[in-house]
Parts: sequence; structure tokens; C-alpha cells
Amino acid sequence: MICLALTAGTHEENRKALETYRPWIRIAELRVDRLRHDQILESAQFMNLANAELGIQFILTLRVINDGGSWAHGEDERQSSMLQILQACQKGVLAYIDLEGSTNWPEVEQAAQAQHVGIIRSYHNFSGTPANLDEIVAKLYRQDGDVAKVAVMTRGSVDLVNIFSAAERCRDSGRPFILLGMGPFGTPTRILARRMGCLLSYASSALQGHVPAAPGHMDPQLLAEQFRYYEIQNSTRIFGIIGNPVMHSRSPAFHNPRFREANLDAVYLHFQVDDMAAFMELAKLLNILGVSITIPHKEAVIPYLGSSDELVHQIKACNTMVRRGSVWHGTNTDAPGFFHPLKELLQGERLDRALVLGAGGASRAVVQSLLARGFAVLLVNRSFERAKQMADDFVQHYPGMVSVAALPLADSTGAYNVDGALLAKLRLYGQLIVQTTSIGMQGEGEGKDPLEFFQFNGSEIVYDIIYTPPLTPLLVRAQQAGCRILNGWPMFEEQALIQSRLFIDAVRSH
Ligand code: ATR
Repeated sequence: MICLALTAGTHEENRKALETYRPWIRIAELRVDRLRHDQILESAQFMNLANAELGIQFILTLRVINDGGSWAHGEDERQSSMLQILQACQKGVLAYIDLEGSTNWPEVEQAAQAQHVGIIRSYHNFSGTPANLDEIVAKLYRQDGDVAKVAVMTRGSVDLVNIFSAAERCRDSGRPFILLGMGPFGTPTRILARRMGCLLSYASSALQGHVPAAPGHMDPQLLAEQFRYYEIQNSTRIFGIIGNPVMHSRSPAFHNPRFREANLDAVYLHFQVDDMAAFMELAKLLNILGVSITIPHKEAVIPYLGSSDELVHQIKACNTMVRRGSVWHGTNTDAPGFFHPLKELLQGERLDRALVLGAGGASRAVVQSLLARGFAVLLVNRSFERAKQMADDFVQHYPGMVSVAALPLADSTGAYNVDGALLAKLRLYGQLIVQTTSIGMQGEGEGKDPLEFFQFNGSEIVYDIIYTPPLTPLLVRAQQAGCRILNGWPMFEEQALIQSRLFIDAVRSH
């Protein structure tokens, strides 16, 4: 079940969230601790009405501050409010009350029992993921029918492995439980809750002015539709993108609809990864079948590949891996993805030189792609040494085809001192200019132009592989000068399309 946590200050706002998300939720949690004080006594009335009109059952929760809640009216009032609300609810309106493992309220428990309302016994840890999670779960049960809920802050990939392996042991015990990882590293536990054997997954309203109930909650519609919450079962094939950070990635929005169109039992999710070895363990645990790789893991993943394409050897970076039996096979779809939109733009026009800015992982794929198509490349980078190393890596396959230069940088007054010979060289290679650095990208590099000192004459093709924002300052300036321009969106789509074919083949052949 997807459970919508209702965390607004008024019943009116909560009702709005309930009505909006009703198609995707099976239960709702009324967080009474988040209500304005004058609203608390109307809680039962709110739930009775919503149950009658929207056919939804509730979990009743009054969470204290230490457990991530907002209750600030003392323990006596907390207990009496819970009892009062519980007793004023009509039969069948409440499915559960939530009591912290340490809470001991016999009168409330007896009232719950009398009304056939179940008890969720909860444990929260906002500082980390303890090692003995299944023991913590086991200790929470007090009587038959109890549900144990453990929510822990996931600080990294090791914690995530810990949560998934504890879930396997909890599932073996046969008792109902909820085990979830908070924060971006924990996102997979929210999407795969059914697969883990959890009773439910909590979600929050994304309506304007509504605040998520806990770190990592997503919107119920997103969880149900894009991530196919209700369709995930043990046989569902799992795919994902690994990176750090990764939550901004559009890859799940690209791949999930394609699995659906192909009518495949597969899901694609974000895995924030800070430890490759731990992720590989998780991949085994979840039987992951294919992975997209982004910053900063494109090189770090290579030692884990059992086999790889020639492209990966040449580029020394891998952005796609697919499991073949028990072996991971690596490939790189950035290189063909990069060239496809350029080829369309060129429409047969022949160019033989290119100026490439940047010498990182993305640049390697771009340069390989250009070299393989006969371009001579001038590689310009802030760190000259890094550019030189990259040129050396390509020398075996493409001798004499890569030259290097240091990227001129502004001095403290904003002025550039660029020598004439370098400018002439930039012009010579600049019939095609490809920008692969993070300068101009949303975030750190935003608003900057790496070629500020260079005047376009309008005949250049300027290709910036950034797609957020769609037009970087470099592209704006090039467009104003009359140049033909390309941004990184068609490259993203093309590389993802090639990946998608590999992933779909992998599902069909397993
Ligand atoms: P990616 O995998 O996306 O290519 P990367 O390997 O971290 O990421 O490479 C980032 C590229 O952007 C490098 O070429 C980097 O230059 P250095 O090799 O000199 O570090 C370039 N870059 C990042 N920030 C920059 C800045 N402020 N000025 C100039 N170049 C920058």
C-alpha cells in the first residue's frame, strides 16, 4: 500500500491532499502532531467524513519531536488526545494507531483492541542506520497483529545494503513490518517496499505549500505511476542509475515509460551511491539487471566489469552495464549518443577538425566519437596535464590526431591574456566547438562562459553537452553571432535510447 502522510496544519489542507492523491493511495496517516492546536479535536470528524466520502482508512499518529514529529503539548495531552480521537472514530475508519516502541499506554491499547484497530510500533533513528535492524524490528512486537515500523537515516550505500538484507530476515519471520531508509540514499526502500515485504510505503503531498513528512518522501502519483509501486513483485527486473548526487537525473522518467510500452515487468530507479563495492553487493541482493552510470562513477565501475566493449577500453569510462548471467558487461552509449544529433545537423557536410573544451569523463566519450569519425581534435582544458594524459591515452588508436592546450582563464580583474598563436589555433579547430565542462551548468558553473575571450564569426557550430539550462551563456552568445548550435538534450535522449534497447534485450533474454 502507498500511505499518504497528511502533515498540513489544517483539515482543509489535508482534505485537499487526500482528494488530489486518492487514486494512488490505499491508506492515509493523519499526523495530528502537525495540526494547528485548534484543529486537533476535529480530527475524528475529519477522518469519519473522509472515510465515508472517499472510502479511505487511516493511521492515527501523534509523533513527538525526538521521533521526527512536532508534538509540543506534553505527554498527558498526547495520550488523552489519542484516546479521545480513537474513541470518536466510527468503526472501520482507523486501521492502525502508531505508538513508539517506548510508549506504554495500556488504556489506549485496550481502546484500540476494543475497536479492532491495529497497532504500529515504531522506531526512528535520524542519525544513522544501526547494524542490527532485524533485531530492532523483532523487539518492537508486543502482541499478535502488531506491525513493527523501523525508519532509519541512510547515510550511504553500506547502510542501504544493511536495510535490504535485514528486510530479507524480517520477511522470513512472517510478521508484518515496515522497514525504510530515509534520505536520498534510502530512496530505493520507498520504491521497492512491496518487494522487501513491507506492509506499506509512506509518501507525501507535493502540492504547493505542503512539506514532506520525512526526508525522501515522494509524491504518491510519482511512486505509483512512474515507479509502478503496485506492480512490483519478486519477479520484477530492477534497473537503475548510479551517481552521487543522482536524484536530479531524468533517466527514470525516460526508462520507466519504455519498459511499460514494451510491456515488461521491470522498473528503473535512482541509486545514490558513495561506495561502488557496496553497490555491487546490493546489485547481487536485488538481482539488478542493468545500470546507467553517471558522475562520479564512470571510471570507478571499470574494475567490476567482467567484460566490456572496445569503446570502454578506448574511452576508459563506462556509462552502461548489463548483467550477462553472473557477469557485468560494460559499454558506453555517450559516444554514439553524442554524435547522432551532430550528424543530423551536418546533413552530409564534411568537417575534419574540432575544438573540445574539457578533459573529464564526458570529454573522453566525445573525443573518441570524433576521432573515430576522422576528426583531428584540439583538446583545451583548465588543467593542461589532464588534457595531455587524455591525449596520450588516445595516441595508440589515433596517433597524431589530438593536440592539447591550456584553457585561458581570467585574471583577478576579469581580463584575459591570450596569445595570438593560441587564438589562431582555436580558430583553426573551431569550425566545430564542443563544450564538455561544467561551466555554464545549473549550480556551480551557472551563468559562466568558458570561451568569453573568443569572438565567434558566425560560421562555427557550437555544441554544449549541458542541458540544464537549455541555453548556456556560451550557446546564447553563439546563437547571437549566427552560429548553428546544439545543446545536450538530444545527446541525453539518444544515449538513453541506446541504453533502453540494451536494457529491454536484457529483460527479454533473462
Ligand atoms: P565529467 O565526467 O562530466 O566530464 P569531470 O571528469 O569531473 O566530469 O570533468 C569536468 C571537466 O570540467 C574537466 O575538464 C574540468 O577541468 P579540470 O580537468 O581542469 O578540472 C572542467 N571544469 C570544471 N570546473 C571548471 C572551471 N571552473 N573552470 C574550468 N574548467 C572546469
